[in-house]
Amino acid sequence: MTNEQANNSNTIRTIGIVGCGQMGAGIAQIAAQTGYRVMLHDTRADAARNACTTLARTWTRLVEKGKLTADAAQAAQGRLSPVDRLADLAPCDVVIEAIVENLDVKRALFADLEGILAPNAILATNTSSLSVTAIAARLSRPQRVAGFHFFNPVPLMRIVEVIDGLMTDPEVGDQLLALGQAWGHVAVRAKDTPGFIVNHAGRGFGTEGLRVLAENIAPVAVIDRILRDCAGFRLGPFELLDLTGLDVSTPVMESIYHQYFEEPRYRPQPILKTMQAAGLLGRKTGRGFYVYGDAAQAPLPDTTWSGTPAATVWISPAHPELAERAVRLAKSCGARVSVSKQAEADALIVVTPLGEDVTSRIAAEQLDAARTIGIDTLFDTSRRRVLISNPALDPEWAARAGALFSADGVPADLVRDSIGLVTQRVVAHIINIACEIAQQNIASPDDIDRAVTLGLGYPAGPLAWGDQLGPAVVLALLDNLARISGDPRYRPSPWLRRRATLGLSLTTQEV
Ligand code: NAI
Repeated sequence: MTNEQANNSNTIRTIGIVGCGQMGAGIAQIAAQTGYRVMLHDTRADAARNACTTLARTWTRLVEKGKLTADAAQAAQGRLSPVDRLADLAPCDVVIEAIVENLDVKRALFADLEGILAPNAILATNTSSLSVTAIAARLSRPQRVAGFHFFNPVPLMRIVEVIDGLMTDPEVGDQLLALGQAWGHVAVRAKDTPGFIVNHAGRGFGTEGLRVLAENIAPVAVIDRILRDCAGFRLGPFELLDLTGLDVSTPVMESIYHQYFEEPRYRPQPILKTMQAAGLLGRKTGRGFYVYGDAAQAPLPDTTWSGTPAATVWISPAHPELAERAVRLAKSCGARVSVSKQAEADALIVVTPLGEDVTSRIAAEQLDAARTIGIDTLFDTSRRRVLISNPALDPEWAARAGALFSADGVPADLVRDSIGLVTQRVVAHIINIACEIAQQNIASPDDIDRAVTLGLGYPAGPLAWGDQLGPAVVLALLDNLARISGDPRYRPSPWLRRRATLGLSLTTQEV
């Protein structure tokens, strides 16, 4: 932040909040706690006053927990004032709207506010799905309008996206950036594009998880546990969809897909519509991808492998680094690893695909399909192993493979043949979308990574994650996904291709 930006944020003293629901109250809380005067207005009778009462209770709880002093709580409370008339917001330097998500209603509100506020006041919208430019378009001062997009619950989700509309004066964005930081949030800057940063970057996880399910690679619970244990996501995609509710997440998926003119990278799956029709929305209706409440099933137990562990293993050297990891794993599980050029007749054949399916490796290396399995060694194998079958795999060899790779007590899942297995395709898809966000200059690489880790809780920022795996590895993986599937969904972003080709980090910006 420059000194000038800091000074600008210092001139902001009084904040107006219009719409005192969940988001408006949360924004009021952090503003008042950090020393700003906050005036609250809502068209619903008593909503502003009720929000102040609720915040008083929140602050009392924070004092009881030792997270806030009694003096600070009292001071924060003293900074709140509910107002009945919109005109009472006249002294505000910034007004943030968190009203109903409707373009016409937001436009009408901002038009009214233009007649009330000082000409240099800022009009900020908390919209998550509407265009900031469209909200500003018919106003007389569209340059004073910007997005200020918080996440729910505001005090805990310490990230805010500042969105510049096409007409926004850059100084307005600078001031909101400084304001967000002054309120203790990480403020990132984004162009006015569908989903901004977080909701755009978040399209990879759910849609690719759904795609894996749609291809019948593995059951819901298996996909979820693989992505938790091998990639480090807190929740699997189906656990997350159930938590958010399909009534909330499906419209977001569809809207971003359509706003990008049916870009295949964001394509949702028909199962969502079928489940919505049946009212299976997730936790809130007692059933979604899982069943909740009294009828809840026990978590799916890990597979127990009853076969005799394969004694000899031949590992394809096609991907040397991945093969080396498979060699170490097989040895640590007690197998002899054959070093002959070709697999002996009694050996389990193991391939380590990178974005390919096992069938493609069998064809490329002329392997005996009946005893060939794949294993994913690109990701963590210390908590769970992912074995991949092929349509001609002999069940006895499948059992011998499962018994071997779980011999040290770490569970092993066998999934059906799939390009990019499970974890590879999901993580590569997330990285690719983040690269495309950087390519389109929607946000800086640093802001993309910060927004995704804080907004989505992923184990790493997607660009940093791509660097950890190796940009060339991610590129090869996606090229294989695109080539074998023939689906443009997986075509690598030019941002990724150029940096991988030149041996650069995915966070490298061009001059
Ligand atoms: P909410 O329904 O809890 O609260 C909206 C409030 O606005 C209500 O109290 C309502 O009476 C009031 N309101 C509606 N029209 C009004 C008007 N014309 N003038 C004054 N007050 C009006 O909604 P919530 O969840 O707080 O969301 C508000 C906004 O924040 C929406 O635009 C939404 O897209 C956005 N948002 C919501 C997130 C969420 O997770 N709930 C996350 C990020 C953004």
